[in-house]
Amino acid sequence: MLEKKPVIFLLLATVVILIGTAVTMIAPFKWINDPKLKIAEVKPYTALQLEGRDIYIREGCNNCHTQTVRPLLADVERYGEYSKVGEFIYDQPHLWGSRRTGPDLARIGGKYPDAWHLKHMVDPQSMVPRSNMPKYAFLQRPLDTSLTEKKMKALKFPSTPAELAALTGKSELDAMVAYLQKLGSDIPWRKSAQAAVLGDLKNPFLDNKTVLPEGKAIYEKECAQCHGADLKGGVGPSLADMDKPDSYIFKTLFGGIPAGGMPAFGDSLGKDRIWKVASFLKSRQAH
Ligand code: HEC
Ligand code: HEC
Repeated sequence: MLEKKPVIFLLLATVVILIGTAVTMIAPFKWINDPKLKIAEVKPYTALQLEGRDIYIREGCNNCHTQTVRPLLADVERYGEYSKVGEFIYDQPHLWGSRRTGPDLARIGGKYPDAWHLKHMVDPQSMVPRSNMPKYAFLQRPLDTSLTEKKMKALKFPSTPAELAALTGKSELDAMVAYLQKLGSDIPWRKSAQAAVLGDLKNPFLDNKTVLPEGKAIYEKECAQCHGADLKGGVGPSLADMDKPDSYIFKTLFGGIPAGGMPAFGDSLGKDRIWKVASFLKSRQAH
């Protein structure tokens, strides 16, 4: 019936679309910077982090990376605790993004040590061989700090003259890494290895040499970038002459060492494959 009256139909359709737009777009923009949604642990950016954020915007990193972990199982398992509205309170503009050519970065802070980021930004393929992320070696140039103080004031972020003075000599890359390390790390969410979920810590592949090739392959794919192809270390310490029991290696791999920058592999590799890498490491230490 209605479709026979094009003008009324058009008007009604426009109203419906506008309501939809208001609810899904305009309202959230209002909500995210609402001071009532403040989370006590979430702090404003420091001067160095803010400069890093501006470079992130300038370089268009958000064309390949999102910054929001959706409350969906797949997102949470891959990236960690889903994003809370209050975490974006200091983001003007927010950088949620909509395209994931690369992984989400909302929880990247604390996932890797600074040294990993420095190498990865300069030459992503050196850390992740099949990466199609461009090289950002040119960010090693000095940071332009002429507007930093004004920017901090405009956003009402606290800063001290000492903090601003400390920016001299920093590179754009330093600022970028400071920014990345801040992302999503304000609220405590990383789990550390929990003995309860680990169960009986006995290597099921003890003395089973047939799992060593698979352990080696996992090592090359997941670990060599930080511990070196020869186990002699790099971003992470040398594992060549580490004298630790299997159970220690298992616990370290399962839960990571969040404070030291060793990532957790419990979710991505699972117990069996962790024991296989542990067997591989032990076999290499014997010689
Ligand atoms: C052409 C798309 C593209 C652009 C542009 C891009 N990246 Fe990436 N990025 C990727 C891909 C793909 C990966 C996954 C492979 C890897 O780690 O290199 C990645 C990975 C990363 C990671 C590691 C994520 C993790 O959890 O392991 C960080 C950090 C990162 N990018 C930061 C940046 C920053 C900062 C910029 C802007 C200066 C940027 N990227 C620009 C595609 C891109
Ligand atoms: C992003 C870099 C990175 C990756 C990837 C990584 N590690 Fe680590 N790893 C580290 C760092 C950094 C430390 C030191 C942490 C500390 O002690 O604070 C460490 C510590 C360790 C330790 C403890 C060493 C000791 O003497 O106590 C073991 C064992 C280990 N890693 C094994 C592995 C294995 C096996 C893999 C692959 C499944 C792996 N790591 C992947 C960075 C990494």
